[in-house]
This record gives sequence, structure tokens and C-alpha cells, in this order.
Amino acid sequence: MRRVGLVLWTIAGCLMFCSRSVAGGDPATEWAARRALALGRMDTSSAMVLRSPEVRMRNADVNYRFRQESNLLYLTGLNRPSVTLVLAPAGVMLHDTVAHVLLFARAGEDGEDPLPAIGDGVILDPGRFQEIMSGLAGRLSMLYVNQAGVAFMQDWLSGKPMFLERDSRREFEQRHPGLKVKNAGPVLAVLRQMKSGGEVGEIRKAIAATDTGLRRAMQRCRPGTNEYELQAEIEYGMATAGAQAQSFPSIIGSGPNALILHYELNRRATRAGEVVVMDVGAEVNGYAADITRTIPVSGNFTAAQRKVYETVLRAQQAVIATARPGALWKSLDAAARSVIAGAGFGAFWQHSVSHHLGLDVHDAGVMDTLRAGMVITAEPGIYIPVNDTTVTAEYRGIGVRIEDDVLITPEGSEVLSAHVPKTVAEIEQLMKTKR
Ligand code: GLY
Ligand code: MN
Ligand code: MN
Repeated sequence: MRRVGLVLWTIAGCLMFCSRSVAGGDPATEWAARRALALGRMDTSSAMVLRSPEVRMRNADVNYRFRQESNLLYLTGLNRPSVTLVLAPAGVMLHDTVAHVLLFARAGEDGEDPLPAIGDGVILDPGRFQEIMSGLAGRLSMLYVNQAGVAFMQDWLSGKPMFLERDSRREFEQRHPGLKVKNAGPVLAVLRQMKSGGEVGEIRKAIAATDTGLRRAMQRCRPGTNEYELQAEIEYGMATAGAQAQSFPSIIGSGPNALILHYELNRRATRAGEVVVMDVGAEVNGYAADITRTIPVSGNFTAAQRKVYETVLRAQQAVIATARPGALWKSLDAAARSVIAGAGFGAFWQHSVSHHLGLDVHDAGVMDTLRAGMVITAEPGIYIPVNDTTVTAEYRGIGVRIEDDVLITPEGSEVLSAHVPKTVAEIEQLMKTKR
């Protein structure tokens, strides 16, 4: 048992201190290192149960495409249903070994990812879950679970299937006095917020695919082009550049729709003289991009649009200049706000300017102090209501957001999406080369 522990901590140490060598290396080593780090953050009276989400029905006999829960994906790389990972710092006795990592999964069906090498643990048939967890539960005072894990626990201890209810954790705790149930998210968020070289590499691929799509849309757009055509151009470009999915539903908001933050309908024909906000992201190997470009439908910004656009751009540059190790998260908002308010648009602020980016588009992580290795967004915006009489008519109804993905480096930051056309001149130039 001691030896297993030593191996785990050595791998963990390598991930923390020589991430360059892990970067781009064997993914199985990186997943094992993450499990070791997670185990290192738990005490011996706790265990973590991460269960894959149920396959959800779309209609009749058709299901939504499965996508693994991100904590489970982070620790195993497995993108398939019916998988449960248990981390047990105290260990579970199995024959003559003590396992700290237990993966309940069946060998893959056609087309499924193969089971990963679990050198640091064991792979068990899912049918053994109830027996093993029942044996472990008596020694635990804390169980960390993901959402699917909560629903599943009801099953293994009560024997009766239950659905996830708002109070199911409390019910579970009442049935097992002395055992507290907590969300596994915060235990893993502090790990997930620090990206390895390998993870940054995947995010770069997602960004490159998103760039391909956005350029296609810029070259395609002219008055009358429907929002869904721009969406189709973007998603086509992403797919041909290696994206496996969108990291969130594409937001293509023209004219008044530019003012709706999470607009997803994308069914309006653009009109001459408007701008279109295109907030999109490819997903590659589980990792997200999240990029916004705002373009003039006619190919040239009006004077008013240009004034708003360049204010947002300066605000974004201020955010990026502020983003460095040691900076406080709230200083990012403050940097943008001072530029936007300074230009007289302070009343048209709607949202904060940054979030972590990774396996989830709004990735797990603490939002207090920036550290080298984090990937964040920089996304200020100005949104002027259609009927706002505090501005002259030419400003009414303009919505502009500019969003890039930024790696915090030891020296400051690197804009990972810097190659996506962004200045007024770059956008107008590309839009002249129509397809
Ligand atoms: N696409 C959602 C966001 O920018 O946060
Ligand atoms: Mn974002
Ligand atoms: Mn976005």
C-alpha cells in the first residue's frame, strides 16, 4: 500500500513541477497524475464517486449525443456512459492489493474509447459497485460526488432506484448518519484551473477550428444572409478543421439580437447597416474555445458602430494588459469598466469580462487571483438598447462583444486566439474577399 502511495505522489509531483515533460506526453500518465493529485487533496475518511451522466432521450428512440461529465473526463479521458470512478484515499482491499483508484466499466462496445490503462488502480465490472461501496461506506465520513453520482448512490445503498431530487443528498445523509455528502467540484476545480501543456495544446486546436469557422462567416456575410447561414458557415469550418462538437450552442445575433447575451435561435435575416455578434466555440478532444467577433453586415462599420467597437477593443486590451500572475480577478472587470465608462458608455455594461476556459466553456476554477497556467476569456461588451434616448439615434441598438482566450504565463499573458481577425481594418479587409 505504501508503495502504491509513493508511486502516486511521484507522478503527482511530476505533473506539478515538470509539466513541460508531461505536456504532449502520454495522456494515460497525465490522467493518472491527476487522480493522484485528487487523492492527495482528500483525507483518508473520504471517498469520491464520479458517475457518468445517463444517456438522455431526445425523442422516440433517439438519444442526445453523449458527452462525458467534465470531472470524470478530466480524471479518466473516457467519453462513454455507464462508467463510475471511485477514489478512495484509505484504499479498498481487493484480494492481495489495496486499490485507491477503482474504475467500474465494461470493455468497450464498437466505436467507444478503449478503457484506459489504470496502472494506479483496478478496473472492475460495474456489477461489483454496490458490494464494494457498501463495504467502504462504514469507514467514511465524507463522500464527494458529481451530480450523476448523487442519483446513483441512492441505488447502491437503498437498493431502490431513485431519481435526482433537490434533497436527495439530505435523504442519503439521514439514512447514513455520520456520512456527509459534498460536491466533488471544488476538490477538482483547483486542479482543473491549472492547465498542463497538453491541455493548452487541445485548447489551441479548438481555437484554430473556431478561427477557420469565423473567417468563413466573415467572408460569407452580406445584407440578407440569415443568422443560421452564418452559423452553418462557422460550424462547417470548425468541423473541417477537426472540431468534434460546439462547446456551447452558437450565438449569432444580428441587429437587435446582438443585445441578447445567450441568444441561440439564429433565425433572423441580417440587414444592411447592422452588426452581428458571433459568439462561438469549437470542442476538440473535450476542450473548448470561446471566441466572439462582431462584424458589420455590409462589410464596413458605420461611424457610430466603429466608435463603440473601438471602445470595446480598448477595454479588451486593458483586460489583457491586466491579466498576469498575481492580478486579482476583479481587477479585470475594473480595467474594462474604466475604459467603457471613460468613453461615456458606462450605462451599457451587462456582464463580467472573464471566466476560466477548459473542458467546460465556463470551466471549473476559483476566481480570485490569476496564476500562470490558467486559461481565461477576455470578453467586454457594450449593449445599447434600441429605445435608449440618452444616446443619439445612430447609437441605438448597437451591441458589440469581443472575446479572446488568454493563457496566463509567468511573464504576463498570451492571447491564444490572437490570429482571429479583430481590428476594424482586419475585419473590413477580410470581408472584402467574399466567397
Ligand atoms: N459563450 C458564452 C460566454 O462567452 O461566456
Ligand atoms: Mn465566454
Ligand atoms: Mn463566448
